[in-house]
Amino acid sequence: MLAPPVAEYRVTPGIGWPLDVAVDPRIGWPNVPRETLDWPTKASAEPPYSGPAPTATASHVIEIPPGPRRARFDEDEFGSPAVEEDPPAVLPTATLTAAALPAPALPRVFVVANQKGGVGKTTTSVNLAAALALGGLSVLVVDLDPQGNATTALGVDHPPGTPGTYEVLMSGAALADHVVDSPEAPSLKVLPATIDLAGAEIELVSIVARENRLKRALRSYLQDHYLDYVFLDCPPSLGLLTLNALVAANEILVPIQCEYYALEGVTQLLRTIDLVKGELNNELRLSVVLLTMFDARTKLAAQVADEVRQHFPAETLPTVVPRSVRISEAPSYGQTVLTYQPSSAGAISYLEAAQEIARRGVEESA
Ligand SMILES: Nc1ncnc2c1ncn2[C@@H]1O[C@H](COP(=O)(O)OP(=O)(O)O)[C@@H](O)[C@H]1O
Ligand SMILES: [Mg+2]
Repeated sequence: MLAPPVAEYRVTPGIGWPLDVAVDPRIGWPNVPRETLDWPTKASAEPPYSGPAPTATASHVIEIPPGPRRARFDEDEFGSPAVEEDPPAVLPTATLTAAALPAPALPRVFVVANQKGGVGKTTTSVNLAAALALGGLSVLVVDLDPQGNATTALGVDHPPGTPGTYEVLMSGAALADHVVDSPEAPSLKVLPATIDLAGAEIELVSIVARENRLKRALRSYLQDHYLDYVFLDCPPSLGLLTLNALVAANEILVPIQCEYYALEGVTQLLRTIDLVKGELNNELRLSVVLLTMFDARTKLAAQVADEVRQHFPAETLPTVVPRSVRISEAPSYGQTVLTYQPSSAGAISYLEAAQEIARRGVEESA
């Protein structure tokens, strides 16, 4: 048992409206009594998988299935294949050549968090994960949102009862038993979420070491499975599901939508991150901010982008994800934008963001 680190509450200067972190009376969090915590020993005490890494070749040529995969889902849902009404103007090219990306020295576990809904958390998780996997890296997406949007976008069907995140958190099932391959890219896996996960937020309250469940499961998975990147796609709240992700991760990626009020939720998120750092996971750091849904036609988007860059000069990626119809259409076909429309501006922006993240990961560990 490690002595708990001294809690450190930092208020981020400059953002303007520090808010108090709301305490959920049912959960008691963030005022988790220290004595109830089961302190994880430092991650380095248990070395992750040290077997041979898959060698990335100069570039990967990925066969992309001809046309959208929508029909498969419609057939499951409605009993007959979809009538193809409005195919994209340009169909996906047959192959996508993605440059091989450098692997980090240790697995990087990202929590994709922002308690605001609809800012692009899921879109960012799945598209970055696919971009890194298409670059030859081994990637896992853990879907922590009961809506299961990340699972859908990665081409994995998840009717109620599909085992996944719920089983891992609630019954302590092994991750390896429920992780499934995504058809989006070789070496891309997903731990599916179903609507059952909605109950976990409340059911977790009475469970021992409730905030460490995901961390434990992930750590034991990493002992015998090779992974370069893990993305934890959070629901739009700061409840116990997000807390589990914040405890399990070592880096935070915050997508920020280029709209008015963009920074409002971020202030609260930063306070939460500081609480988690001080109390539960002192390895956690905010390392990537990604501007999403950027609309180059509006002044507001550029102003928000400037403001975000002022607050997070080092963390904000140079690449900005544009507002793009192709990005929003892709999930309804069970695809990421990278395979749905590889030549679109949205796909290219996620490929560039993935390259930058991979490059920084290698430089930082060098
Ligand atoms: N760059 C983008 N351009 C257009 N639509 C987007 C973009 N990013 C996300 N969206 C759409 O916005 C909605 C919310 O995005 P999502 O990733 O689900 O947010 P969150 O996970 O934060 O709730 C979805 O319908 C998604 O398809
Ligand atoms: Mg989401």
